[in-house]
Amino acid sequence: MRKTGRILSLTLVFVLLLTLFASCKKAPEQETKTTTNPISQSETKDQSTSSTQTEPTTEKTTAKPSTNPSTQPPSKPTSNGQKLVALTFDDGPSKHTRHLIEELNKRGAKATFFMVGKNVASFDQTVKFMSDSGHQLGNHTFDHKNIKKLSMDEFLNQINKTDDAVMKACGKKTTAFRPPEGANDSEKYQRIDKTITYWSVDPLDWKNRDTALVKSRVLSKVKDGSIILLHDLYPTSVQAAIEIVDELQKQGYKFVTVNELIQRDGRKINPHEVYFSAVPK
Ligand code: NI
Repeated sequence: MRKTGRILSLTLVFVLLLTLFASCKKAPEQETKTTTNPISQSETKDQSTSSTQTEPTTEKTTAKPSTNPSTQPPSKPTSNGQKLVALTFDDGPSKHTRHLIEELNKRGAKATFFMVGKNVASFDQTVKFMSDSGHQLGNHTFDHKNIKKLSMDEFLNQINKTDDAVMKACGKKTTAFRPPEGANDSEKYQRIDKTITYWSVDPLDWKNRDTALVKSRVLSKVKDGSIILLHDLYPTSVQAAIEIVDELQKQGYKFVTVNELIQRDGRKINPHEVYFSAVPK
């Protein structure tokens, strides 16, 4: 009797332990299930909502202009979710600049012109037309100087002489600066209150005066936020620019000035920062 009682109580204890163990084991399983599930769900939800926010808008913006190009030319001042690109032209103004501005204006495309100060007086009406059309005025020194080889005074003199010439032509000063030959000198940038602009797409249009080649080089590299470097000294580059605008507008791009590009999505311009591009966040 005592033996069987002991066996009985032992089995009872064993069964109790077993059920306890089973419930202990089950509970964390359920917990982990319930805790992992909402996380993974919310993660996928976040991903799906963010992807539905970004993907369709970019699809929409790419699809809209290509299906209805007639709505593209009048560019809107704000561009939430739209692909943006900045065309920049160095070393002008030249005899080809007016034609370029006319073609940009027809297409509602804005650009930025980094002008060599000594060229401005000969094309003052072109500079006035440029300014009146809403393109951004850029400074590229007065004599196309490598700024690293200039003293601070010489540098400031190059900047101010160019601004004076531009002011005489159109009543405005330049608001951006690009150093000739891409010569970087951050100490000098601290002394001017202009957007320091480099580039992210360089088709070497000065070297290859070939419209088709320049165009294909740009189109193969361009993306949302790119800054494209061209020179309005060459008719081949001007024609390439026009064709680039036509093609990229079909793809849903909007052509904006450098300052507009950098200020996308409410960003602020840091006047002493060097900008190569402004890709979306
Ligand atoms: Ni230059």
